[in-house]
Amino acid sequence: MHERLIEFMVKYYLPDEPLARSTGVITEEDSLETYKFLFHLVLQQNLSLVALTEGPDGQKEIVGAQLYTVFSLDDPPLPEMPGKAIAKLLKFLYDIKTEEIVGGLNLYQHLQDWGLCVDPQYRGWGVGEEILRAGNDLGGHIGVRTIITVFTVINSQVMAHRLGYSVLNQFKYKEYKDDDGNLVFPGVEDTEFIKLMKLSF
Ligand SMILES: CC(C)(COP(=O)(O)OP(=O)(O)OC[C@H]1O[C@@H](n2cnc3c(N)ncnc32)[C@H](O)[C@@H]1OP(=O)(O)O)[C@@H](O)C(=O)NCCC(=O)NCCS
Repeated sequence: MHERLIEFMVKYYLPDEPLARSTGVITEEDSLETYKFLFHLVLQQNLSLVALTEGPDGQKEIVGAQLYTVFSLDDPPLPEMPGKAIAKLLKFLYDIKTEEIVGGLNLYQHLQDWGLCVDPQYRGWGVGEEILRAGNDLGGHIGVRTIITVFTVINSQVMAHRLGYSVLNQFKYKEYKDDDGNLVFPGVEDTEFIKLMKLSF
């Protein structure tokens, strides 16, 4: 299932999710390979959620997924990894999810998300919200009762607000720039903010 999930995320998440799309992960070999490597590492924790349906031949098909790991305060920072897009994404992650914000929550551990995605042919049916909701069961089972996720598209933000997530930090796409004054994530028109959000239950 891990290989199939990586294939699914590469096929539907990386080309569609705005941060990965606007930095061109899918078209840059180093970043694509790094992303695949990261997905492998993430899946090794066996904490990811997958929605399946049964095809006419009885075979299970992936409809959607959300990848999670447990983050602990004493985890080492992520190492530098190859890829221009990856470098932008890592810097962004440290900008939005600062040590101050995470440390200020006084939590030793939380669940952190590595990507929520629904197969395009099943979008618009509420599958994403069901997967997001299942995160609470996952957290409850392993005794980690806070989830922190970066929500990058309007529809996932709508779902998160509905499920009771609150905003820890946010940037406007049109204001988040690099040192040269260029937009880091250009071309995102349908969503105004990138939101770091938290749910405790
Ligand atoms: C994000 C994603 C998982 C959501 O898929 P989904 O579960 O099919 O979600 P929907 O399209 O049904 O949208 C969820 C809700 O947002 C609402 N919504 C969509 N666009 C909206 C907009 N512009 N303004 C307000 N609400 C909006 C929908 O109406 C829906 O609410 P409803 O159930 O009351 O109708 C899917 O679009 C996806 O895989 N995208 C590519 C990867 C990605 O960007 N992942 C998100 C990273 S945070």
